Amino acid sequence: MTLKRLFWLALYFLMPILPIALIRQSPVGQAQDPLYILSVVTGACAFVWLVNQLIISARPKFIEKHFGMDRLYRFHAWMAVISLGLVIVHRQTKLAWIGFAPSTAQIAAILFILAVLFALIFLADTALRKLTFIRAIINFSNQKLGVSFNRAVLFHNITVIASLVMALHVLATGAAGTYPPVRIFYLGYFSLGAGFYVYHKLIKPWRLNRLIYQVESVTEELPNIRTIKLTPPSEREILTYQPGQFAFITPLGGEVAREEHPFTISSSPVNPSGITFTIKELGDFTARLGKLQTGSPFRVDAPYGYFSYTNYPSDRSLVFIAGGIGITPILSMLRTLRESTSQRQVVFLWAVNQASELFCQDELKTMMAQMPSFTWHPIVAFDDTWDGESGFVDKDKIQRLVLNPRADQQALDYYICGPPVMMKLVIGHLKDLGVPADCIRSERFSL
Ligand SMILES: Cc1cc2nc3c(=O)[nH]c(=O)nc-3n(C[C@H](O)[C@H](O)[C@H](O)COP(=O)(O)OP(=O)(O)OC[C@H]3O[C@@H](n4cnc5c(N)ncnc54)[C@H](O)[C@@H]3O)c2cc1C
Ligand code: HEM
Ligand code: HEM
Repeated sequence: MTLKRLFWLALYFLMPILPIALIRQSPVGQAQDPLYILSVVTGACAFVWLVNQLIISARPKFIEKHFGMDRLYRFHAWMAVISLGLVIVHRQTKLAWIGFAPSTAQIAAILFILAVLFALIFLADTALRKLTFIRAIINFSNQKLGVSFNRAVLFHNITVIASLVMALHVLATGAAGTYPPVRIFYLGYFSLGAGFYVYHKLIKPWRLNRLIYQVESVTEELPNIRTIKLTPPSEREILTYQPGQFAFITPLGGEVAREEHPFTISSSPVNPSGITFTIKELGDFTARLGKLQTGSPFRVDAPYGYFSYTNYPSDRSLVFIAGGIGITPILSMLRTLRESTSQRQVVFLWAVNQASELFCQDELKTMMAQMPSFTWHPIVAFDDTWDGESGFVDKDKIQRLVLNPRADQQALDYYICGPPVMMKLVIGHLKDLGVPADCIRSERFSL
């Protein structure tokens, strides 16, 4: 764990100490009863950590760049659930201590519970979705009620109303009324969270709208995979990013829904003339990208993500393992390595279902010819016509294609991106083969 990560985590988890200390100094906060102390600690932690959700969800780059957005969103979800657990303990301890349930507090708690349940079903890629009745709810909502991911995010903004009501509750408490430092803390911290939200929803889009990108080309890699090249208004404004990072892009031209979606930048940041995204059709939005016209405007919010070998300076050999469209961050890293003077050994295993999904073979073959330190192995799971490596990425293939050919078996850094099931299996195989966890880096294509 890097020092910067430790710093942010410590700040996140230790911040409630400040309001707890202030409440305990207030004229109404002196009681020594453990039940009362528990009610204060759980209330203060829940308040701070729920406000922190407003901060995290604004995607602050100065925090995100140390963690990666996918990790941060998973943390966002976990901390929301933990905070709700604390709210329940707080409510029960307050009821037991003074038997009083303020109505603002009750409303805030109900709104949070509804929002979090909804988010767990519609926004999070969790095990909950494997339950048959949850799947049925999702399918019904998608098909009959038109609840897309973007509409679910829109509804998710109810958490901001819940936060506002929560702020009213804490400002109305005895400690806030009798001791100004407590009041100032509540007001200040809530305003900080609200400020991040306003920045994320209003100021950032306004700033990004002053630097609109345009579609330079749309290339059909396969009938269901396209590469879209976007260029900024002038060469001076070209994006600075690390290979493997991603962008939230929003089409503004009207050919495609005006929705914000995350996609990896598949081009290399070295000598860029624009940025490319290689996108596979999955649902409504991605299926319509073929309709984009040259010159069509795009808003680009970037760069985000931590999945890049450039974040881990070293001479160690690189092993890239991709599943299907999970190749995009790896393509960007390979294209960058091709442009560099790096002598690092690179092995790339690309797993797909059918051989027809191997869309950029020519480029990879040319790379092999240009870069003596690079080898790649396509692995096809289900295709009787394929005469190369077949099946899944398993221990035998990792041993044969990656480990056995090298003398430096212990000095390998692994970068994995693909469907969640595949990533889980491959990471399991690597751990079984003795690869230390800190040499395995991965990125998920779901928030
Ligand atoms: C960090 C990251 C990088 C990605 N890079 C690529 C890439 O290089 N190439 C590629 O083809 N795909 C990539 N994806 C996946 C891509 O974002 C989704 O396939 C796309 O948003 C699906 O939209 P849809 O409406 O067509 O499909 P739908 O069927 O509506 O959605 C399918 C799933 O995609 C996710 N999703 C949908 N809309 C959004 C949204 N607005 N924001 C976040 N997630 C959403 C949800 O998990 C949803 O369940 C990436 C995703 C992430 C998180
Ligand atoms: C929505 C999430 C909630 C948060 C973040 C929250 C937070 C807080 C905080 C920080 C305090 C001040 C410290 C203290 O006295 O303990 C407080 C007080 C209190 N809370 Fe909550 N609370 C929430 C929900 C609830 C609920 C559902 C109840 C229902 C019983 C409740 C009842 C109380 C009571 C009775 C007080 C003391 C009021 C006073 O001192 O005048 N809270 N809460
Ligand atoms: C388990 C619970 C939760 C899950 C799974 C969850 C998930 C998400 C996801 C996936 C997004 C990103 C949407 C995007 O930018 O594409 C998001 C955004 C957001 N979340 Fe949550 N969240 C949860 C709880 C909360 C809570 C408790 C709060 C507030 C205290 C909150 C506030 C927000 C806000 C303000 C946004 C930005 C919305 C927008 O951009 O329109 N979330 N959340």
